[in-house]
Amino acid sequence: MLRPLLFALPPHAAHAFGTAALWPAEALGPVRALVRAVASSSNPAIAVRTMGLDFPTPIGIAGGFDKNALRARALAALGFGFVEVGTVTALAQAENPRPNLFRLPNDRALVNRLGFPNEGAARVCARIEARGGARAVGVPLAVSIGKSRAVDVEDTSAVLADYAESFAHAHRVADFVVVNVSSPNTKNLRALQGADAARALLDHLAAKNAPRKPLLLKIAPDLDDAGLDGVLRVVREGDVDGVVATNTTIARHDLATPGDVVEKIGAGGLSGPPLRARALDVVKRAREALGPTKTIIGVGGIETADHVHAMRDAGADLVQLYTSFIYEGPFVARTLARELAADARREPSGQKRVAEQTNDRGLSSVLER
Ligand SMILES: Cc1cc2nc3c(=O)[nH]c(=O)nc-3n(C[C@H](O)[C@H](O)[C@H](O)COP(=O)(O)O)c2cc1C
Repeated sequence: MLRPLLFALPPHAAHAFGTAALWPAEALGPVRALVRAVASSSNPAIAVRTMGLDFPTPIGIAGGFDKNALRARALAALGFGFVEVGTVTALAQAENPRPNLFRLPNDRALVNRLGFPNEGAARVCARIEARGGARAVGVPLAVSIGKSRAVDVEDTSAVLADYAESFAHAHRVADFVVVNVSSPNTKNLRALQGADAARALLDHLAAKNAPRKPLLLKIAPDLDDAGLDGVLRVVREGDVDGVVATNTTIARHDLATPGDVVEKIGAGGLSGPPLRARALDVVKRAREALGPTKTIIGVGGIETADHVHAMRDAGADLVQLYTSFIYEGPFVARTLARELAADARREPSGQKRVAEQTNDRGLSSVLER
């Protein structure tokens, strides 16, 4: 009912409205309990255990929606099986000049070039602590870390120090940490997906990862096959738990939105359904390259339970969404989880197979360590 109203507002105003609307569920325990009762979607048939963590559903809210960890508990109450906050950077930074966020309603897509606006890793992680930590969120909590805009990507030691500073804060509060090297909106960030750069970064963080917490690398959909295979080899060989695939795309293929409109919007990362096929391909290739023990979170254009099944058939253990939360509204996680649970009831053997595979992977990765 609210969507026409929200879509009549500029995207930033709609986002601010949505964040404000979630305040009561974040701040007031009884409201949160009520929302949880309405949106509850956990069901043993769809629960997933991976990376040593228990996920009540396989559907998470993707990085970038709650950049400053203002609404983590409310998002969990809305039925998300895990919450990724951030991306945070060591240095607090403002958004890129506006306009930097666009709707493409004909494609149910978004384009953004926000550029990691956030209050800084220290402040955001202190907020998580002040609100009771990951435990108070009630589902696994991930913190995404990225490079501060002011740090030159060519200055390797500064890049490592910058990520390490964010990592120290994230590691203190998160159940797992996502290392973002794939946003198209921070100049040259994606160069960190090159095999040598990625290995240096992940080794640097892995050396500081004590006590050990799961560490994932978020990758772009725009890598060519050689680039993808290179970074996947680094993940397979490193002390890293897996990948989040994928971030937004700089490609603009097969859009229903007229070309002149797309051109006028200009640079940025495209998200939503136009990304789905490529994200699926990347997940498939990642599963082949990483083998059964690493964790894969599939993200890109997920709107329906069938899309979740397709991602999991391609090899994803878990999925995330962002853009369909904007287009479908606050109960999208609940709807999808209930559909998955209904599918599991209809096809108990299929669900069991998935659960067993996941458990096997979880067990073997624990044994490997
Ligand atoms: C407005 C906006 C901001 C985003 N910010 C981040 C971010 O800070 N960190 C990140 O890892 N991904 C970010 N993303 C990418 C999403 O996490 C996700 O990878 C991508 O949107 C594809 O999923 P979707 O099609 O379900 O939206 C952002 C996406 C959007 C639309």
